Amino acid sequence: MFETPKPVLGNDKPAVVKSWDEWSPLKHVIVGVADGGMIPPGEPALDAKVPEDSDMKGQWGPRSQESADKANEQLDNFAKVLESRGVRVDRPTPIDFSAPVSTPDWENPSSFGCMPPRDVILTVGKEMLEATMSYRCRFFEYLCYRPLMQKYFEDDPHFRHTAAPKPRMSDASYRPDYLSDQIGVEKRLKWTAEKFFVTTEEEPMFDAADVLRFGKDLIVQHGFTTNLKGIDWLRRHYPDHRVTAVNFPGDPYPIHIDATFTPIRPGLIINNPERRLPDEQREFFHRNDWEIVDAARPAHNTPPPLCYSSVWLSMNVLMVDEKTVCVEASEVNQMEQFDKMGLEVLPIPFRDAYAFGGALHCATTDVFREGDLVDYFP
Ligand code: NVA
Repeated sequence: MFETPKPVLGNDKPAVVKSWDEWSPLKHVIVGVADGGMIPPGEPALDAKVPEDSDMKGQWGPRSQESADKANEQLDNFAKVLESRGVRVDRPTPIDFSAPVSTPDWENPSSFGCMPPRDVILTVGKEMLEATMSYRCRFFEYLCYRPLMQKYFEDDPHFRHTAAPKPRMSDASYRPDYLSDQIGVEKRLKWTAEKFFVTTEEEPMFDAADVLRFGKDLIVQHGFTTNLKGIDWLRRHYPDHRVTAVNFPGDPYPIHIDATFTPIRPGLIINNPERRLPDEQREFFHRNDWEIVDAARPAHNTPPPLCYSSVWLSMNVLMVDEKTVCVEASEVNQMEQFDKMGLEVLPIPFRDAYAFGGALHCATTDVFREGDLVDYFP
């Protein structure tokens, strides 16, 4: 008989949920864990994201205990740094990611892991929404957060725990055009420019990490992991927000916005110079006096071994508040750029955790930030 695991909590005080943006003072956060992380088996949407020359091609199975231990060491250290800054930290409860999963429509030989909570849980105000997700190997990942959600539900009478409708993720949800492993970057870029992505418009699908929160505005990347119906679903779900879709035509593997477009504080965003926001979409920010500057070049030419993400995890940073930013400790160029912007930089060693699902923004999701709902784009 399955017993609901006890949540791993930062402390026993009752939790309060609230967060409207990416930069207000952070007081309570979830940091992922690497335990049991898998390299998931091939499936349509996941295969489309793996670059032709990646060491991930054709791999699958459990990640080594040694790599999980190293990743956990860095995750635990990150949690400690946040705690030393007065941020309360909770951790998810892993499920058995090596077990096969199935629905009436498909079977997958394993799941993925729960290192990147940002991909799964979207906090908007007093609500934490479980995203639909778009990979089959991530269908059940929300279960890792349920012990925490239950605790927040008990503690905070105004907390709203919601789940977007689970997609069927049948073959109809994925374009077979992306099944070849010989597509090539040129064709991928053409398809990205045409907004011809691996996910079809069969049903709403989105990953939470495609959404950035700017107070009353939610900026959502349309790409592999979020389709237009997913964006429309978000628009209807948050009737008091403006939901704006964005595209980054320079990205041949467009998943998750947080190594592409990173808000730092009101009025300032860094944008990946290889994935520029098109001029007509910049207008929205410029007419409200927001500055979009090119992010610094990553310090590395390649990601670490067995990693899905690009070198641009350099800009996957966590704002502790408008003046304090957590940056991966070897990303000297990004740290220097922030330093010149007048920010206090907290260097966090994290490259050993990258392979489990990303960098410092991916590995966290907000529970509580100070501040209220602000309209930055009136
Ligand atoms: N599109 C991303 C995902 C990182 C969070 C990348 O650059 O790999």
